[in-house]
Amino acid sequence: MADEAGASRRDLFRLLGRVVADAAGARIPAPAAPPRPAPPQEPEAEVPLERARLVVDLALHPVPAQRARRFVNPAWPGPVLLVRVTMDHFAAVDGDCPHCGLALSWDPGREVVHCPRDATAFRMDGLPSEGRRDESLRSYPCHAAGPRVEIGLPGDG
Ligand code: FES
Repeated sequence: MADEAGASRRDLFRLLGRVVADAAGARIPAPAAPPRPAPPQEPEAEVPLERARLVVDLALHPVPAQRARRFVNPAWPGPVLLVRVTMDHFAAVDGDCPHCGLALSWDPGREVVHCPRDATAFRMDGLPSEGRRDESLRSYPCHAAGPRVEIGLPGDG
């Protein structure tokens, strides 16, 4: 009889212990979601300059729709991030963050380019849309003709 009473007390404590542990576990916040990885980006490529425009041959340097690619030329002010917003619509901005100099990435979900270091993001017209608002990007006009995209300097209508 004493053993039965001891066993049922032990069972009761075990049960209560589990209830307390479950309740404590319920109060522990779920771990934060890991940061969303940047979408894959095509590798940087050097392209020629013709009549003061960067010339991107898409047959040589493909840029799928909703993806972006950095292009450089030693005579150009800096890397350019060419974004293929849709199959027929291209947009280009400075490829580096004006604050820290890191390479910017295109986020097709938000349709912005963003800095990998903080939450700063820029629209494709170069204006900041999230985070720090004290700097803008240069936005470059794009002229697409078949497999060729010419990127002009700002003001090259
Ligand atoms: S460090 Fe690049 S935007 Fe803030």
